Amino acid sequence: MLARVIQVTAPAIPHELVEEIRTSVDIVDFIGEYVVLQKRGRNYLGLCPFHSEKTPSFNVNPEKQFFYCFGCGAGGDVYNFLMKIKNLSFPEALAAMAERAGIALPAHEERDEDKARQREQQRLLEIHRLAAQFYHSLLTRHPAAQPAREYLEKRRVTSEAVQEFQLGFAPDSWDALLSTLVSRGYRPRELALAGLALPREKRDGFYDRFRNRIMFPIVDQRQRVVGFGGRVLNTGQPKYLNSPDTPLFHKGRVLYGLNRAIEAMRQEGYGIIVEGYMDAIAAHQAGLRHTVASLGTAFTREQAQLLLRYTREVVIAYDADTAGQTATLRGMDILYQAGCRVRVAVLPPGLDPDDFLRREGPQAFREMAEQQALSLIAYKLERAVATRNLSTIEGKVDALNDLMPDLQRVKNAVERDEYVRLISARMNMAEGAIYAELRRQSGQLQKSGTWRDKTENYRHNKDRISLGHQPGHNGPEKQLLRYMLEDPGILPRLKQDLGSEVFSDAAAREIAAALEWRMSTPGLPPLTAIMDHLSSEPARQMFAQLMVGEHPLPGGKGLEDLINKIKINRMQAQIQQKIKEMDRAEAARDLDYSRQLQEEIHALQKEISVLKATRH
Ligand code: UTP
Ligand code: MN
Repeated sequence: MLARVIQVTAPAIPHELVEEIRTSVDIVDFIGEYVVLQKRGRNYLGLCPFHSEKTPSFNVNPEKQFFYCFGCGAGGDVYNFLMKIKNLSFPEALAAMAERAGIALPAHEERDEDKARQREQQRLLEIHRLAAQFYHSLLTRHPAAQPAREYLEKRRVTSEAVQEFQLGFAPDSWDALLSTLVSRGYRPRELALAGLALPREKRDGFYDRFRNRIMFPIVDQRQRVVGFGGRVLNTGQPKYLNSPDTPLFHKGRVLYGLNRAIEAMRQEGYGIIVEGYMDAIAAHQAGLRHTVASLGTAFTREQAQLLLRYTREVVIAYDADTAGQTATLRGMDILYQAGCRVRVAVLPPGLDPDDFLRREGPQAFREMAEQQALSLIAYKLERAVATRNLSTIEGKVDALNDLMPDLQRVKNAVERDEYVRLISARMNMAEGAIYAELRRQSGQLQKSGTWRDKTENYRHNKDRISLGHQPGHNGPEKQLLRYMLEDPGILPRLKQDLGSEVFSDAAAREIAAALEWRMSTPGLPPLTAIMDHLSSEPARQMFAQLMVGEHPLPGGKGLEDLINKIKINRMQAQIQQKIKEMDRAEAARDLDYSRQLQEEIHALQKEISVLKATRH
């Protein structure tokens, strides 16, 4: 996605042309080819093609030429729609739209460096494609691959799966691949760059990296072979050998099987993550095509971002061993932070998904993933119960502390109550004690009447403020952006009133910067061009949401009220800070400081009431 920003701002394709191509088609017509749309108010409404839903929350706004789904957050202009629905890069989407419109793109003048890099990339891709073909044809045809075929049969890998996943066999030879590809015009050095050959140690020359292994081509979401994993036939070390990092391949950035899982994840409405190549293949064979493998245990942020393009709902099904459990916890946190809803399918000890599927069958696996999977907190609760000694007080305290950070994050009261009940029952602890601990840890004063009431009030406010840092929830700042969309000229005034950091939310800041760019660009590019200047997904989503917004902005003193509201929010956050500090000061018996803080709080409160009084 970053590519889009770079490509468009490069001089090669002027934004006027991007704009001309964009406006060559009406977004309602265009999306209408993929989604059944019905007019509702100013927008058109339909079932989102990017996640599975029964009631429509996918909106297309004909005035602004934007779409936005209130269910999954997907949004943008025609280009974004095309990129998402067909897995295209921006230049590819642009080329497709240009062709459709009959508009010629300038042959772009590239720097020699770029050309050389693209050429290298192209050759590496060819090498990977040919290598996969070579290994695959050996596996399916060559007598020397007989043991490999028997091994796969023993593991119940079907010949359909061998085809689908283009499984292969690297023969027990030092140069089978090298000599084949050299004869087709590739240099050994290029094979080394591709990670498929290694330089000899004592003499000149190279040798094949993968020998006597079953080969698993790793295919990216654009259907390109970018790397390989190779498994020994029986025992032997290492069990799996993977491509090293190359210009095409980085282990932490791919998900095995993703290319074949994208459609299924959309249909099923969620994705399953397993650890291994064999697990993913077994799942696909069993009809659970919405499965991808993270290739080993360390699930990365990049993998989370990649997955997030296709689904927000994820079930982790890692092995139940210690390494798998640790990886599950880490993976859950990473996915949660990336904005996914995560649950865990807990496998019986000693079984990986491949074993489980063979023993219990697809239906049992599906039930485990869909009905029995545990939420983040429930899973951590089970882990705490298993790892802490709950017959001692210390053990209970530790167990509760394991869960506290996650519990604090649950803002919805009903949901929170539900977890507290669960924890109380499972750990044999009074609900009241858990609530008391929650309160204590969120740094609240629990003093006599008046203070208590006040802090309760502020606690409520704090929830609102911290939610404000998540895109989509930030009421006042988002409103402010809408004013800016209507009239970008108000920015100087906002800066004067609110300081240079007008927005606390990162996505909002990015949008404001893009709007400033628009203002300072001769010829004033249209609002839609802003999308090309947003490099983060949250910013693009927020912008798309703003563009399809239904409610008209309040006129008159609306803007002034909004600025006051933001000022008040900020002061309330400061009060919150000071209350915490007061708590610490009192604990340290620093009564002078505590009194000073109290005065500062009163001053802020007074300021707030003055502002509130001027509200219209
Ligand atoms: P597993 O050992 O669970 O793999 O490792 P598996 O797929 O179940 O293998 P089988 O069933 O024994 O054939 C999980 C994943 O960790 C990575 C591989 O991606 C593997 O699929 N791994 C494992 C390696 O990269 N190297 C290794 O030596 C072992
Ligand atoms: Mn296995």
